[in-house]
Amino acid sequence: MQLIESIAELRRARAALTGSVGFVPTMGALHRGHLELVHRAASEQQHVVASIFVNPTQFGANEDFARYPRDLARDLAALADTRVSLVFVPPVTEMYPADATTRIDVGPIAERLEGAHRPGHFTGVATVVAKLCHIVTPDALYLGQKDVQQTLVIRRMVRDLDLPVRVVVCPTVREPDGLALSSRNAYLSPAERALAPALFAALDAVARCFAAGEHDADTLRELIRQRLAASPALVVDYISVADPVALRELDGLVEHAVVSLAATIGRTRLIDNIVLGTP
Ligand code: PAF
Repeated sequence: MQLIESIAELRRARAALTGSVGFVPTMGALHRGHLELVHRAASEQQHVVASIFVNPTQFGANEDFARYPRDLARDLAALADTRVSLVFVPPVTEMYPADATTRIDVGPIAERLEGAHRPGHFTGVATVVAKLCHIVTPDALYLGQKDVQQTLVIRRMVRDLDLPVRVVVCPTVREPDGLALSSRNAYLSPAERALAPALFAALDAVARCFAAGEHDADTLRELIRQRLAASPALVVDYISVADPVALRELDGLVEHAVVSLAATIGRTRLIDNIVLGTP
């Protein structure tokens, strides 16, 4: 596994890879969810490239960029047991020279839900993922379903900009109690961690209700609201039942929807989602 910090060197090493390349972009603090992406890429492609870059442009002024968990040695040790051949770990100045001003605006889908609570977040995500795709030129890009809006924003960008890459979305990896794996789970105190499975429990209750025949969007939202209200320490940002392409809120009876939510426990904001029905 080769550790590379410069764009020029990454391009040289990438050009030497023959056969298909899968790319797993990350911000480090790797957990089993990331490693699942790497394993899936390795099972489908001849080579795997990963990146570790805490992207400043996707963090708001009051967000956790400075305290985001960083442990490169630990991340490299985790990747050493995988089939990753190149790990791209650029410094911020390599990705964003001081005079770089271009940004990618994906439009309304990037302004809903997470975008409404984190203005500019998806502009930062889209910009860095587009840059990384231009640098790595992968055949396929591997993303986790946990960040469902991110996957839809990136799919939209890839389609609108005709980027020659296939987007592969892999299932959310969960703890045994249902909590979706996230690098930010590390911020939770033991008491907060004990509350966190309430998010998935509410989503799971909705999935069971939907399977039992309840398809009314408002009723499904209300069910989540009531479930989460049972944990007053959990402050809900949004509960959404939305169409699975543009993430517009749905009314009436739904056959296929993304149910997503965001809530804050203490100082930690958690998100999760499930998909109901089949397209
Ligand atoms: O999901 C993440 O870790 C980041 O948003 C990504 C896709 C690596 C872009 O910085």
